Amino acid sequence: PPPHKKRPPWNGELCKGCREVINKVKKRYSQTWKKQEDNYQRLGSQLRNECHGFDKAIITQANTPVGTKLVYNGEKWRTLKVTPELFGTFPKEHLFSNKIWDTCAVVGNGGILTNSSCGKTIDSAQFVMRCNLAPLDKGYGKDVGIKTDLVTANPSIFQRRYESLIGRRRPFVESLRSYGSSLLLLPAFSFGYCTPLCMRAIYSIEDLESPIRPVFFNPEYLQNLTSFWRSQGLKAPRPSTGIIMASLALEHCANVHLYGFWPFSNHPYGLYALTNHYYDDMKALSFHSMPTEFDILLRLHSEGVLRLHLGDCR
Ligand code: CTP
Repeated sequence: PPPHKKRPPWNGELCKGCREVINKVKKRYSQTWKKQEDNYQRLGSQLRNECHGFDKAIITQANTPVGTKLVYNGEKWRTLKVTPELFGTFPKEHLFSNKIWDTCAVVGNGGILTNSSCGKTIDSAQFVMRCNLAPLDKGYGKDVGIKTDLVTANPSIFQRRYESLIGRRRPFVESLRSYGSSLLLLPAFSFGYCTPLCMRAIYSIEDLESPIRPVFFNPEYLQNLTSFWRSQGLKAPRPSTGIIMASLALEHCANVHLYGFWPFSNHPYGLYALTNHYYDDMKALSFHSMPTEFDILLRLHSEGVLRLHLGDCR
C-alpha cells in the first residue's frame, strides 16, 4: 500500500483555517516542477553578492584573523575580540569554498517526514544538510535517511538535552556518532549565552575524540541573511535554521531539494494531524515566522529555483 495508507486514520478534525491554507498551498504546489535556470541563477547570485555565504558562512582562520571584532548577530551591542586561543579552534580555510555540488538535500525537521519513506532519496543527494541534531537512529532512517555532510546545533539543545554540558559529556559525544565525520555548524556568536555552551561542546568533542568536525557560523553571514530575507518579505526577528540551510544550499548546489518543511498541523494529502517534528511534538519558537518562510519557499518552488517535497517518496 502507499505509505500514507499505513498511517493512523485521520480523526476528522482540522485546525482552524487549516483547510484553506492546505488547499491554497496544494493549488500552488500541484504544477509539474521544472528547474528554471534563469531564476535559480538570479537568486544564487543575489545571495552570493549580498550574503557572501561562499566565503563567509563559516568562520575560518583565513577570513577571521586574530584581533577581529565579532559582532553578535542577535545582540548587536555585544562583541568579542578573537584571541589566539579562539583562533586556534577555527579551521584553516573554508571547507567548501568555490565548490558546487550537483544535488543537495536540506532536511527540515517537520512531522511531514513521518512514514514518508524519503530516506533513500535523501541519502542519494551528493550533500545532505540537517538541522538541530535531529535524531537518525531508532528507525527514523527509512523516512529521513542517515547520510549527513553538515548538521547544525542550536545551543539551547545543549541546555535542554545535556544539562548545559556542565556534568558528564559522554552522553552528548556518543549522541553524535550517527553523524560520523560531518561538519557540526554552531551559532556560537549569535547571543552571549551561546558562546560558553558551544565552547564546552567543541572541547567535549575534542577531548572525547569524536570524528565530527565542529565549526562556527559567521555572525556577519547570519546578519546578512536576516537582512536579505527581510527584503524578500520575511519580517520575523531572525530566519529559522531551515531557511538558513536552504540559503547556504542555494549558493553551493546546482539542485536544491527540501524535505521536512511543512509548518502546519495537518498533512497536506492525508489531512491527519501531524507532530511538529518527525521525532517529537515540541513547538516552534515564536520568534520565527514559519508560515511566512514556507510561503517564500513555496514561491521559490513555483519559480523553479528549488524543489520542495511534500509528498511521500516511493
Ligand atoms: N520545519 C518546518 N516545519 C516543521 C518543523 C520544522 O518547516 N513542522 C523546518 C524549519 O525551517 C526549521 C527546521 O525545519 O527551522 C528545523 O526544525 P527545528 O529544529 O524545529 O527548528 P526550530 O526549533 O524552530 O529552531 P531554529 O530554526 O531556531 O533552529
